[in-house]
Amino acid sequence: MQDMKGQTAIVTGGGRGIGRAICLALAARGAAVAIADIRGEDAEATARAIQEPGGRAMFKVTDITDLASVKAMVDRTREILGPVDILVNNAGWDRMTPFAKTTPEFWDTIIAINFKGVLHMVHATMGDMIEKNRGKIVNISSDAARVGSMGEAVYAGAKAAVIGFSKSLARELARNNINVNVVCPGPTETPLVEEMKKDGAFAEKVLSGMDRIIPLRRMGRPDDIASAVAFLASPEADFITGQILSVSGGLTMC
Ligand SMILES: NC(=O)c1ccc[n+]([C@@H]2O[C@H](COP(=O)([O-])OP(=O)(O)OC[C@H]3O[C@@H](n4cnc5c(N)ncnc54)[C@H](O)[C@@H]3O)[C@@H](O)[C@H]2O)c1
Repeated sequence: MQDMKGQTAIVTGGGRGIGRAICLALAARGAAVAIADIRGEDAEATARAIQEPGGRAMFKVTDITDLASVKAMVDRTREILGPVDILVNNAGWDRMTPFAKTTPEFWDTIIAINFKGVLHMVHATMGDMIEKNRGKIVNISSDAARVGSMGEAVYAGAKAAVIGFSKSLARELARNNINVNVVCPGPTETPLVEEMKKDGAFAEKVLSGMDRIIPLRRMGRPDDIASAVAFLASPEADFITGQILSVSGGLTMC
């Protein structure tokens, strides 16, 4: 299916994990993909994986917490691939720690990456979509935001902010024919989860037991999330906006 041919997509955090799978899924549908990631080597590897079979891709080392870095990335994307049609805010970060043990510095980092990064990216790209009177924004939140998660209070709060922001934005931008939706992964096998497990016994215990708790009997894989994102970014989802989709093997059902 090449229904994104001629469209430019930016994916944050596309260097690895879920973001890399999203980049490949959008490229498979014909989109030209710009990868914004703080990890240059990983971002370059994703761009190469798209270019080698003939796709269009670029990467730019970007820190989404820094508005100047975001603006430079978006400008470069316009120069190389053209104005932005699709934005996927995927980059995120977390560590599992009981709230009592967290520090204000940790709160600031979590909020900056998981919430303010989304604001920066949307603010820098929405003008392109408004001008074209069409666009798709897909924000990656988390099931933690929908149902809560022990050891992830600040992260869940920041990800819930993404949901409130996305619903409000969906209402504001509907007149511009821009769809804004949210995908909430459940526990998914990625480098982030491996790092969290290594970080402490609590995270290791919670995350290692997931195969038994999830109704579909396995953790998510990056491709599971990517196919939901690709659908919401595609013309098939033209009449869907302001929605929150859990991709969690049935772990949460509300
Ligand atoms: N893996 C899970 O179980 C899970 C569950 C729910 C939600 N999520 C969310 O899914 C998204 C992807 O997570 P993942 O598990 O693939 O993580 P990951 O750590 O494997 O990949 C995240 C990518 O984001 C990039 N990134 C981090 N901070 C950045 C910054 N400041 N600027 C630019 N890029 C930055 C990283 O370099 C990395 O390439 C995140 O938003 C995460 O919160 C993941």
